[in-house]
Amino acid sequence: MEPILLEPAAKGLYGELKVPGDKSISHRAVMFGAISSGITTAKNFLPGEDCLNTVSCFRKLGVDIETSGTEVRINGKGLDGLKEFEGLLDVGNSGTTIRLMMGLLSGRPFTSHITGDESIAKRPMNRVTSPLLEMGAKIEGRENGKYAPITISGGRLNALTYSMPVASAQVKSAVLLAGLQAEGETVIKELAPTRDHTERMIRLFGGNVTTSGKNISIKGGQQLKAADIEVPGDISSAAFFLAAGSIVPGSEILLRNVGLNWTRSGIFDVMEKMGANLSIDRKEESFEPVGDIRINYSKLKGTTIEGGLIPRLIDELPIIALLGTQAEGETIIRDAAELRVKETDRIETVAAELRKLGAQIETTDDGMVITGGTNLHGGTVSSHGDHRIGMMLAIASLICKKEVTLEDPASIAISYPNFFTHLAKLR
Ligand code: S3P
Repeated sequence: MEPILLEPAAKGLYGELKVPGDKSISHRAVMFGAISSGITTAKNFLPGEDCLNTVSCFRKLGVDIETSGTEVRINGKGLDGLKEFEGLLDVGNSGTTIRLMMGLLSGRPFTSHITGDESIAKRPMNRVTSPLLEMGAKIEGRENGKYAPITISGGRLNALTYSMPVASAQVKSAVLLAGLQAEGETVIKELAPTRDHTERMIRLFGGNVTTSGKNISIKGGQQLKAADIEVPGDISSAAFFLAAGSIVPGSEILLRNVGLNWTRSGIFDVMEKMGANLSIDRKEESFEPVGDIRINYSKLKGTTIEGGLIPRLIDELPIIALLGTQAEGETIIRDAAELRVKETDRIETVAAELRKLGAQIETTDDGMVITGGTNLHGGTVSSHGDHRIGMMLAIASLICKKEVTLEDPASIAISYPNFFTHLAKLR
């Protein structure tokens, strides 16, 4: 796709939006629908490229899945309904798809080959391979199973007590999906709480998983039953408009039906600490909490983001870095080395691209130090194929003095296909 020219905002952003369905929950709706018995329907499903790749992989594994816009109907036949696919299961750019499928397919009695794009080939898979090998799985990949393409010769698994060396919901979920098929009880010990969508979904599908402090336990041999799901709006997509509303003077935006799961809502804690004018207008409890969020422009101040807060806002750190450039004083991000193994090295990419617009950011091993109160001047930047970097730069363009040319904007469709239409609606 051609580069796109983005004009600065002439006035405040105003209006309301319903951001698309949550990416993490949409993936899981397809996966759990596929391994349950009966018909699962998911409404407000995210038809972004990552989730469509999950659909295509499960179709290849023999599952009948119909999609129509934001509705998906999955005709699951239980775990045994999954059948061997001799070709390649291609996850595209999706880390969630490959890692969760690795856990799932380790317990299936057939061989699977999983691959993805250039970015996936560089992302560490050993964090998943390692506990799965301990459970008895047979997995091969480049550099001793560290990188995709991955081949799994599935079969019987033993339960495992596993202390996770990284705070990662993808690793936790892969081990839970393997644990669901293993003999005995699998216990996972988390370093810090990470998103708990897998646990919630197992319960919604009639399974049993217990959480006690940082320990999560699951017994093998459970059969799941189909469920109907209304996917909440993605808080990680909403975050771009929360940021836009708080840095473009005169803005007022209402975001409807956004997922408010505590394991994902660290962005609220940070924005409140920075002095943002943000309020939750309505909150409802379903299998995931959802509500409406209102944001108005206000002056921001710098803050420090670290420790257990990091996993609760890991995908929001690129847009938080932009907020930092506009706040008064310094914003420090630390304990976020995980950013280096996302779709791109998000520490270096965020800093390099924002510097091209005039930001002052120093990178550290595990984060960034952002100088506040800088004027952004415009220029040419690139998403580097990373959807969240692309959206962050598009929001940055609103407060630049001159136009921004964004290269590789197509990556935004990975998680937010109608992002530019929504942005135009608020202008
Ligand atoms: C995700 C977990 C997070 C997040 C990713 C989606 C998930 O990754 O960054 O966008 O759906 O489980 P990690 O678990 O690797 O931190």
